[in-house]
Amino acid sequence: MKVIAFNGSPRKNWNTAMLLEKAIEGAKSQGAETELIHLYDLNYKGCISCFACKIKDGKSYGKCAVKDDLAQLFKKIEEADAVVFGSPIYLGNATGEMRSLLERLVFQYLTYTDPPGSLFPKQVKTGFIYTMGAPEEIMNQLGYNHCMNLISTFLIRIFGHSETLCSFDTMQFKDYSRYVAPRFDPLKKAKRRNEVFPLDCQKAFEMGIRLTGK
Ligand SMILES: Cc1cc2nc3c(=O)[nH]c(=O)nc-3n(C[C@H](O)[C@H](O)[C@H](O)COP(=O)(O)O)c2cc1C
Repeated sequence: MKVIAFNGSPRKNWNTAMLLEKAIEGAKSQGAETELIHLYDLNYKGCISCFACKIKDGKSYGKCAVKDDLAQLFKKIEEADAVVFGSPIYLGNATGEMRSLLERLVFQYLTYTDPPGSLFPKQVKTGFIYTMGAPEEIMNQLGYNHCMNLISTFLIRIFGHSETLCSFDTMQFKDYSRYVAPRFDPLKKAKRRNEVFPLDCQKAFEMGIRLTGK
């Protein structure tokens, strides 16, 4: 059992990365082999619309033809049994790096048939962990779930499975006194960090266990 995780935050040891580590710990507790990849360490762009993955009898049919750092990563995903994506919410959506990965990953396997189909060779469990500064009510008011649901729909279409976990009202800075951010109450943020974030970590751990099929 191989579980691979992708960190779509530029920060390697803060909210998103910590939750991904917990998901990986959960998978490891079931004997899975795991790997965490930080997307901001890689060089790649989003889909360039070359359509090589859609050419009739083409040598790249069903495969992304662009040869950059994602090529190796797609191989790893084809060998994995479960994939965990993690991203902060940036302007209401997953980060640019995460979205570029998803464009390239999903589009190569997505067929322009009616209904759309998947050329991905097997079923894989996927989990998506989002972290955001906003509390849940604001997420609902601003409609972030629309983007999350769309991503989930595409993951189900390609891989056959998707589950989502959100961590709200995250602590963005370790020391709020250094920044101009009067909108946030540092004491409330610290309280939530101490009381709610550990529960989110536990949920991520459990997601890691579920993704191994246990
Ligand atoms: C460029 C940028 C845009 C952001 N946009 C949003 C947003 O639209 N909604 C929100 O709730 N939080 C937003 N945030 C806050 C982050 O989503 C939040 O702090 C997240 O937990 C950071 O994850 P990390 O600690 O793993 O980097 C934004 C942060 C940055 C840096």
